[in-house]
Parts: sequence; structure tokens; C-alpha cells
Amino acid sequence: MDKIKIIGGKQLNGKIYISGAKNAALPLVCASLLSKEPVCLKNVPELSDITFLNSLLSYMGLKITSNDEIFNHHSSKTYTYQADDIKELTAPYDFVRKMRASYYVLGPLLARFHHVEFSLPGGCAIGARPIDIHLSSLEQMGAKIEIKNGYVIADAPKGLQGAHIIFSKASVGATCNILMAATLANGITKIENAAKEPEIENLIDLLIGMGAKIFGRGTSILTIEGVKELHSTTHAVIEDRIEAGSYAIAAAITKGRIELINAKAEHLQQPFRTLEKMGVEVLEKENSVIIDARNKTIIGEDIYTDYYPGFPTDLQAQFMALMTIAEGASLVTESIWENRFMHVPELCRMGANINIHGHASAIVRGVKKLSGAPVMATDLRASFALVLAGLAAEGETIVNRVYHLDRGYEKLEEKLKAVGADIERIKEPD
Ligand code: UD1
Repeated sequence: MDKIKIIGGKQLNGKIYISGAKNAALPLVCASLLSKEPVCLKNVPELSDITFLNSLLSYMGLKITSNDEIFNHHSSKTYTYQADDIKELTAPYDFVRKMRASYYVLGPLLARFHHVEFSLPGGCAIGARPIDIHLSSLEQMGAKIEIKNGYVIADAPKGLQGAHIIFSKASVGATCNILMAATLANGITKIENAAKEPEIENLIDLLIGMGAKIFGRGTSILTIEGVKELHSTTHAVIEDRIEAGSYAIAAAITKGRIELINAKAEHLQQPFRTLEKMGVEVLEKENSVIIDARNKTIIGEDIYTDYYPGFPTDLQAQFMALMTIAEGASLVTESIWENRFMHVPELCRMGANINIHGHASAIVRGVKKLSGAPVMATDLRASFALVLAGLAAEGETIVNRVYHLDRGYEKLEEKLKAVGADIERIKEPD
């Protein structure tokens, strides 16, 4: 298993191009199952999560071609997906266990082919991650759902029916799944308490481009008028707000200055306001954001993770890394996932002073400096928090289990090296 070696203490300066968003690309790729015509997606990031999803979908019969293109001044992949010959309607355990977001096949396959079998994904490092909202919503749309031998078996012999659905939680995954399902349902579906993340707007734009009728974009009430079929379109994946936020903290924690090219400031208002309160300058430009922490004193600040536009849970670990070297104390409250402090013991091994209270709150008392250590994390964002701590720490940090980072950060070492980090991947046989 590969490792990442970092020699900390270098100030990072320069430009980083922000890639397409993993969490937007995953449902967009699955939306291509809704039509027999080709769907072309630009700005798809090269990440192992996308590779996993592509292998599941090509196993099902999706035709996939790709080529390299320049998109918004940086090189990226364009994929064309065509679902004109889907033969397999079962997502087996071996695929799903590697990537939970394979649940995005549920809505499209059930809507178009009236049947789907899907291995239950099971738990995950950051929490139990149930899919009850996805399943109960599909039942409200007329699907018959049975759980057998670890699989969800869903049937809708007469097709899905429009329904009035009120989500108990504003789930991102359920909103995407039910949106896709409703585009081909008979009649009108109304989703209340829908999630409002930018990735959902990106999905709505693709679906509308394919001929879907969706109203309420950007709000928590979505209305979808089912249509008979969807058609070909070309669409771009939005820039990754979590990647942009992560590199913003790389600038802050090394007291450097990084311009995040293509970052969308409007998607990062809470994190950027928090950075400003912590003493970092944030300059929002039309096609980039400059994060300047040169000669600044970083001050502790509290965060509370919440549904969008609240503070993103996917940036909690990275902000905590910054808080470890801030002046004074910071309170972190995690309201979305029940087990998302796994980076804490690792940060403490590097000299951080953090106390966890219950499973939702942590107090971080800033220390003068961190020191390098061998560390590992059990999820993607926590792993990046350890990279950040390594960039700021004195001496050498080895981050193990790099496969987590490869799931969500495209060209990580290349991007950090380009702004002056001393970072390298140590290849090791699995
Ligand atoms: C997505 C993101 C993930 C992010 C999360 C919250 C992807 C691939 N992943 O995950 O990075 O951390 O949004 O912003 O886009 N819940 C239920 N029942 C369900 C579904 C969800 O109780 O059927 C709960 C979850 O346990 C969690 C909350 O709802 O407490 C939010 O989960 P959800 O928004 O669904 O997260 P994901 O879509 O899995």
C-alpha cells in the first residue's frame, strides 16, 4: 500500500487548479443510465471512486469512452456514457463494498427498467450510513422492496408513480436518487426537505439538459413532472468545493498564499467566513479565490457542521488540523456523522491538544507547533487533515493508507509540489 512522505515547514505559494467534484460526478455518471442515448460529461476527475463506479456500470452493460481535454484551463477527462444495452440489473457486493455511492444506480435502473438488485453497503468508517430514506421514498413511489441475502431487491412492474415525499433528513444521496427516479415516473413527484448542495443543482442541470422537467432548483422543495424518455446531452461537472476548501487550509496552515483557480466562492461561504475569523485573508475573484495567510496570526474559532449552506462536514477534519496550531481554543461540533473524529488521536500523536466530549464535540487548544509522525486515517477527509498537519509539522510525516486520498483528491502530490510542498509518494506493493 502506498504512503505519502511529507517534510513539513514549507510555506506554500502559487496556484492550484481545482478539479471536477467527486460528489457531483458520481450521481451524474449514474444519471446516464436514464437514457439510451449518449451522455457526455466534461471535467470528470481522475479518482479511484470514479474508476470503481465505471467498472460497476460497464459490468452492467454501460458503454464508456473517454478522452483528455482542456477544460477551464486545466487538463481533465471527458467521458461519454451510453446505456443502450444494459443487460445486468444487479450491483454485486464486491463493487458496492468498495464504494457506497454505487447506490446511485437504484433510482435510475428502477425508473427505467422497473427492477434493480443492490447489495446493501453496510457500515462505513464515518458512521452507520443507512439508506432507509432512499428505500422508503421508492416505496412511496410504488416500488416493492424486499431485503434478501444482503441484497435490496426492488420491483416496479408498472413503472414508478409520482408521489409526495417528505424526507426526514435532507439527505444528499436520497435527494439525488429520488430526483433521478422521478424523472421517468408516471405523474408528478414532490420532494420536501430536499438537500440543497451545489452537487444537486449540478445534477438537476444535467437532468434538465436530458429533457427532464424539474422545478424548485436551489430550494428544499423539488417538483418533478415525469416524462416518457430522456435524451442525449453534454454537461460539465462543477468544481470540487471540498477540494478547494482543503487547499485553502493548506495555504492557511503553512502561512502561505495560494490562488485556487476555478474555485467557486459562492459554494464555500461558511468555510471562507470562518477562515477570515481565524485571521486569514480571503479574496474572492471571478474565476478564482486567493487565500493569503502570510504574516498572519491564526486564531481559534468554533464550527458547527450542518446541511448546506451550513458548514460542510466534509471540511471539518481539515479545519481541525488548522485549529491545532491556532492561538486559543476552538470548539468543533459535528452534527451530520456520528463517528467523524477519527483524525483526533492521530493529530494528538503529532502534538495536538484535542479533547473529545461525547461523540459530537471536540475542543481544540492550539499548540505552538506540531511534530511529524507516522499516521493513518480511516476515511478520505481525515486523511487529508493528516496531510495538512504534516505540511505544518516539524520534520517528517508518513501518511499511510493513501488509497483513501486517491478516492477524492486528484493529482494530490503534483498539486502540492507545484506550490512548494516537500511531498512524495512512496510506492509499496499491496
Ligand atoms: C454525501 C457525501 C458525503 C457528505 C454527506 C453530507 C457523496 C458521495 N457523499 O453523503 O461526502 O459527508 O453527503 O454532506 O456525495 N441518512 C439517513 N438515512 C438515509 C440517508 C441518510 O439517516 O437513507 C442520514 C445519514 O446517516 C447522515 C445524514 O442523513 O446522518 C446525511 O447523509 P447524506 O446526506 O445522505 O450523506 P451521503 O449522501 O451518504
